[in-house]
Amino acid sequence: MRAALEVARAGVDVALLSKVYPLRSHSVAAQGGINAALGDDDSWEKHAYDTVKGSDYLGDQDAIEAMCHEAPDDIIELEHMGTVFDRLADGRIAQRPFGGAGFPRTCYVADITGQALLHVLHEQTLRLNVRTYDEWFVTSLVVDGGRCRGAVAINMRTGEMEALLAKAVVLAAGGFGRIYTPTSNSLISTGDGHALAYRAGVPLMDMEFVQFHPTTLKESGVLITEGARGEGGYLLNSEGERFMARYAPNKMELAARDVVSRAEQTEIDEGRGVDGCVLLDLRHLGEKKINERLFQIRELALDLTNTDFVAAPVPVRPGMHYAMGGVKTDANGATPTEGLFGCGECACVSVHGANRLGGNSLLETITFGRRAGKAAAAYAATQPAPSLPVAAAQPDAEAIDELLARPSNGERMADLRAEMGTAMNKGVGIFRTREGIADTLAMIRELKQRRQQVPVRNKGKVFNYELLSLIELGFMIDLAEVITLGALEREESRGAHSRRDFPERDDATWMKHTLAYQTPEGPRLEYAPVTKTRWEPENRIY
Ligand code: FUM
Repeated sequence: MRAALEVARAGVDVALLSKVYPLRSHSVAAQGGINAALGDDDSWEKHAYDTVKGSDYLGDQDAIEAMCHEAPDDIIELEHMGTVFDRLADGRIAQRPFGGAGFPRTCYVADITGQALLHVLHEQTLRLNVRTYDEWFVTSLVVDGGRCRGAVAINMRTGEMEALLAKAVVLAAGGFGRIYTPTSNSLISTGDGHALAYRAGVPLMDMEFVQFHPTTLKESGVLITEGARGEGGYLLNSEGERFMARYAPNKMELAARDVVSRAEQTEIDEGRGVDGCVLLDLRHLGEKKINERLFQIRELALDLTNTDFVAAPVPVRPGMHYAMGGVKTDANGATPTEGLFGCGECACVSVHGANRLGGNSLLETITFGRRAGKAAAAYAATQPAPSLPVAAAQPDAEAIDELLARPSNGERMADLRAEMGTAMNKGVGIFRTREGIADTLAMIRELKQRRQQVPVRNKGKVFNYELLSLIELGFMIDLAEVITLGALEREESRGAHSRRDFPERDDATWMKHTLAYQTPEGPRLEYAPVTKTRWEPENRIY
């Protein structure tokens, strides 16, 4: 939506196409806040340094500098659009501490920041009459003569398929959390944007870096915001110890996410967990503060675990949360394919490198949404109207007919999805080994074959979610293969990629981005240099 606003503001005709109503996008689940250096003692350079260090030196420093420099203006603009950020007594925007940050620089709306931003941006798209195609499911990109010229999509209400042509396309399709089970991501986060680009010949970058958030609920994987620790919450093991003192004595619970998640998993693995979890204790914050700043997580924990943060610690554990990798773009959202842009979680600029800092994700959607929208509008202004490539939708329509024509007996798609999720969690989770990754890769390749026979029992056209889920499963299996192969090849530990068999970071060999290209035999990997401006790699201690 932020990209679309920028295009509309440039006076260029723009449409938003989404498989869900825009207010149901996964940003609605972002809780804790959005970063910008607004404080008197803070600066965008300090924000950039924290982000570079958080990325374990894999983030591109020019892109990080751009994001951190522009963040304050983006926040003020969001406020002018109507975002009701929480405030200090003197009226300035309040900021809470977040993991890996040297200053309290996370602006927030209690623990519903993403929801608040989503509503404000939606209002703005309505105000500027941005046309929307809600509940259209994209099956492929139209690439003609090396240029992206639109997308082929199913109108979910009718089941009809159409090619929608455009002078430029911006992918803003979010993450791929559903490749893992469990995940904090909603059902729609199936990596569609990543997969569409990959299948169109665009490289995916750094896909092996998958973030595990330290505080998710056990069964459901639902997020319990880092804001809880930002407000002063403690993590305890079964012995009642604040165990982070052993792993990150300076930052304690507010070390970077990869560090906290590994610490929790170690406690659990070494027998100091509580029923496969650790405990998040907020009791000392008091009911008033919890109700004012963390009311949503109080409600979630009550509903889903029957535990009230006011009265008792809540069991939490690390859970898959975010994709650092994505469609390779430059700092203006341009991919290597002309006419195709990307922003937000589905893109890899790269500002997060090997580990993202909390609060930088909403920021990325805004700053790079704006930049990608601006660049796409400028590009579109130089282009002639695309002519309809004859029967652009035909191959996808035939593929769908083939899926619907399959006999109704056979394996259940839900079983394949569950197997994939469990295998990814096991083999390409918080701690990894060559053997575990290789087993998962073999399993993913087997699933790829088995998916070829999975039936669609619902033969209807209208809102056929069974059909759409099977297409999503195809997207996810392609991406799972890329994640797993990238993890297998990267023989070092950096950020969220932690190899027990290669426990050290190896800058001499591995200070480089992974690029994955689709081939008929599976992903082909290449490597590209990291952009450094002013920060030399250091030991990463919190
Ligand atoms: O913990 C959270 O509120 C999540 C924030 C984020 O992923 O940036």
